Amino acid sequence: MNKPSTFAAPKGVPDYVPPASAEFVAVRDGLTKAARLAGYSHIELPVFEDTSLFARGVGESTDVVSKEMYTFADRGDRSVTLRPEGTAGVMRAVIEHGLDRGQLPVKLSYSGPFFRYERPQAGRYRQLQQVGVEAIGVDDPALDAEVIAVADAGFRGLGLDGFRLEITSLGDDTCRPQYRELLQEFLFGLPLDDETRRRAEINPLRVLDDKRPEVKALTADAPLMIDHLSESAKAHFDEVLGHLDALGVAYTVNPRMVRGLDYYTKTTFEFVHDGLGAQSGIGGGGRYDGLMAQLGGQPLSGIGFGLGIDRTILALTAEGKTAGEVARCEVFGVPLGDQAKAKLFVVISQLRAKGIRADISYGGRGVKGAMKAADRSGARIALVLGERDLADGTIGLKDLGTGEQQQVSLDTIVETVGALVGKR
Ligand code: HAM
Repeated sequence: MNKPSTFAAPKGVPDYVPPASAEFVAVRDGLTKAARLAGYSHIELPVFEDTSLFARGVGESTDVVSKEMYTFADRGDRSVTLRPEGTAGVMRAVIEHGLDRGQLPVKLSYSGPFFRYERPQAGRYRQLQQVGVEAIGVDDPALDAEVIAVADAGFRGLGLDGFRLEITSLGDDTCRPQYRELLQEFLFGLPLDDETRRRAEINPLRVLDDKRPEVKALTADAPLMIDHLSESAKAHFDEVLGHLDALGVAYTVNPRMVRGLDYYTKTTFEFVHDGLGAQSGIGGGGRYDGLMAQLGGQPLSGIGFGLGIDRTILALTAEGKTAGEVARCEVFGVPLGDQAKAKLFVVISQLRAKGIRADISYGGRGVKGAMKAADRSGARIALVLGERDLADGTIGLKDLGTGEQQQVSLDTIVETVGALVGKR
């Protein structure tokens, strides 16, 4: 006979199980709350889309599209892809539902899983979780500052403080093409290996992000976009920085920052945490002023971010902090006998209906086992009901902190407990 098989989650795909799952929820909700406070409404999007949406939106030359997508043919032989990021899908939905024809900016937030076939390591998963926002349709530097400030507030609201914000401008279509040529000219004059030269042809900016010391040394004097911005792109960037100064959001300008997605224009930024090792980006984003037109919509601007929930949890751990608490129950029922159990089951359900977290011992455990379960549940109060009590119309109310127990009326037990835990 074959041995029964055992299963494990796919490689690089994390589970979030209790008690750690409470931290996951707290981080997701904390980051989302910051967006909610700034007027972003929830958008819930499909987890898979037409492959061509990402190819067109994120860019064929990016690693994300060329190497990391989970792409497959569905049973109707359509090529679909598990979403590697959120921005392209949001733009698709905004265009499809005509949200861009209403009041601008359209401000949306989302959270959920994204999928990238990357080499798994600490902080790098094949199913990753993000909270994201997108603000579409108004090209105002104040909106850039708002998006960044929302991310900053989200992280700080969770108690994080060991991160920094790096920011730069990638220019726009009035200055980037000229800069690209300038950079390529510079790079082609260097003794680069074939692969790096090829990269310089496809995406020269990437070469500036090369971590190898010999390439770093060669590109030390490379021309930088930030020194070749058009007047309007420079004015936009200066205004963003001015707003961040006014908001007290600290930043470092990093003109060599390279983002892994092709749609960025003008302001781009990354939140970096030094306690995380190689995978130090806890969030990032920027403007993508050409994306909507690229996807067949109006030529509207946009800016947003994606914050990594997994890495935010790791960053909290690195700072010796946690977020969220496991929701312990407040009341625990200890039934002694079948009839008592049937009655107590109803009482517990009535307590839940009042908003009191309540649970009961299952499986016909004896008084010792059931009391142990009550202690482990974290409840303050145990309700102990035996067959004799039931006949008398009373129930034992035990304070699990002090160990004191008193008999009270069974008829009014829901009100009595409600008063004790502050919910009438
Ligand atoms: P991204 O920089 O590719 O941007 O991802 C955002 C964040 O997701 C990263 O900073 C990181 O914290 C987390 N992340 C990315 N890949 C992984 C991974 N393999 N494992 C764990 N965490 C990961 C975007 O996705 C853009 N859509 C953000 C954006 C929105 N830009 C404008 N609007």
